[in-house]
Amino acid sequence: MCGIVGYSGPQNAVDILLEGLENLEYRGYDSAGISVFAGNGITTVKAEGRLKCLREKLNTSPVSGHCGIAHTRWATHGEPSDRNAHPHGTERVMLVHNGIIENYLELRSRLTAEGYVFKTQTDTETAALLLDSLYQGDPLAAIREMIRQIEGAYALAILFADRPGEVYGVRKDNPLIAALGEGENFIASDIAAVLSHTKRFFTLEEGEIAVASRCGITVYSPEGAPVEKKVHTATWDVEQARKDGYPHFMLKEIFEQPKALRDTIHPRLKDGLPSFEYDGIPECLFKGRGRIHIVACGTAMYAGLVGRDLIETLARIPVEVQIASEFRYRDPILSKDDLVVIISQSGETADSLAVLRLAKQRGVPTLGVVNVAGSTIAREADYVIYTHAGPEIAVASTKAYSVQVSVMYLLAFAMARSARTLGEEEIRAKVEELLQTVEKLPRVLEQNNAIASIAGRFQESESIFFLGRGLDWALSQEGALKLKEISYIHCEAYAAGELKHGTISLITNGVPVVAVATQEHLLGKMVSNIKEVKARGAWVLLLAQEGSPIDEEVYDQAIRLPKAPDLFTPLLAVAALQLLAYHTSVCRGCDVDKPRNLAKSVTVE
Ligand code: M6R
Repeated sequence: MCGIVGYSGPQNAVDILLEGLENLEYRGYDSAGISVFAGNGITTVKAEGRLKCLREKLNTSPVSGHCGIAHTRWATHGEPSDRNAHPHGTERVMLVHNGIIENYLELRSRLTAEGYVFKTQTDTETAALLLDSLYQGDPLAAIREMIRQIEGAYALAILFADRPGEVYGVRKDNPLIAALGEGENFIASDIAAVLSHTKRFFTLEEGEIAVASRCGITVYSPEGAPVEKKVHTATWDVEQARKDGYPHFMLKEIFEQPKALRDTIHPRLKDGLPSFEYDGIPECLFKGRGRIHIVACGTAMYAGLVGRDLIETLARIPVEVQIASEFRYRDPILSKDDLVVIISQSGETADSLAVLRLAKQRGVPTLGVVNVAGSTIAREADYVIYTHAGPEIAVASTKAYSVQVSVMYLLAFAMARSARTLGEEEIRAKVEELLQTVEKLPRVLEQNNAIASIAGRFQESESIFFLGRGLDWALSQEGALKLKEISYIHCEAYAAGELKHGTISLITNGVPVVAVATQEHLLGKMVSNIKEVKARGAWVLLLAQEGSPIDEEVYDQAIRLPKAPDLFTPLLAVAALQLLAYHTSVCRGCDVDKPRNLAKSVTVE
């Protein structure tokens, strides 16, 4: 969701900034723009649409310089257009912005009364004109006063026309990093933007102001004192963020799952038992917990649903799974012996972050399960377990889901150990089953071509229904989300037992139903439900374990998974559902990696 890059150095800033924006494309955007110190002032070029539209404009009227800022915009206030694209500002000040300025209407009328003329519908222009009104030759003083007056969430990169060669950065509730190169320096919304130039970066804390020039980066505290920052080295490299010959990032990321799972699980095993020593988490974190609240959004929340079943089954601790945007406004009942687990790939999702802060305010311990190192949720949670999926570029989350689920297994095992609901030998056996299941995943991925041909059957569908029971229901919800978000086909997941309470009236001749039936202990019940939809004319795709005794007459086509204990089948079944979603999207000619209206990192409410 929106991307920021700023550069100061000896190279042509336009090339570096465009490359940075390309690396941030995965976040989702609908327009882009660039401002560069060129000649005597700042030159700005903006274009609606993909980066190639901006490139075309820059090819027609070339611009060059050694310092500038650039942005990919995901529209919130005002439609996607050249005019509404960032940067915004005046001859004296230009800025790019991620986030939302909440009091922009109030500021806008005040600035209008002062004589400012607004050219766009954006909230961002308000911040730019406010800054212009406050600027009297001291950038730091003007920025400090601006952030005192604006409300909302923001990451800003700013140029002052009378300070050529300097990029200013400041943030609140939206991430912004500063990266150190050799004789060149950067400001960016995430390190992926500049990985081909440097891996050394630090994150800005709220209210800190960074000033990047080719000579270095200086950071000032909100009170104006210089701050020493701890420099991190990114562990991801540029190669990992490329497609490696796959036609789409999503397919590459689906195929990376066995490695991502091994990388996430193995560091958390000691003598065959789960251990979070690697993450600096004491065993006592899991002892005596009254209730676990797993809170997240989208796919991460569906990983939490699997976690609930695992923890309740193995550790017998009550677990609630909540959508972050609902939880934060519900005045939730939280007690100090509870544990709030926030799951987030990006570590920046606004609603999940708000829940983390709410839990901390109430004195409840918080645990983040996060993929992006140094992200806000990772930094602010009391404890963090990093999933080692590597960079996930496709908007549709795949490998991040699997590694989140793998952490749910490890947490369930660790909690069962603390609660003594399972003995050590039983837990060792479960860990072994988990590891064996991961090694069976390549056999699901080998069915890629077969699944591609099944997807052809789905491409003309208007609606597809997913059914499952128990863990299969949790999984069905993720399968339906994956398919709908990238193929734009209406998909719904239902607990199979609920069918008779309304949904079955939607099943008519030829309506596709994906019946997820990997839970052998629920097979009899599930087969009855499949028969019910079949009898009403549904076209049934069955997803079941190899050798499961299911009469061929009740389904039309099947994907069979390697045999595994019921508890572990989600790790196998999800890959089949991801491939199904992927190929359906390809068949329909959709933009698989960047589905319409969606962003990778949702940093606004
Ligand atoms: O970065 P997060 O894990 O917090 O993101 C949560 C959701 O926005 C994300 O999972 C979203 O639902 C994906 N598009 C699903 O593929």
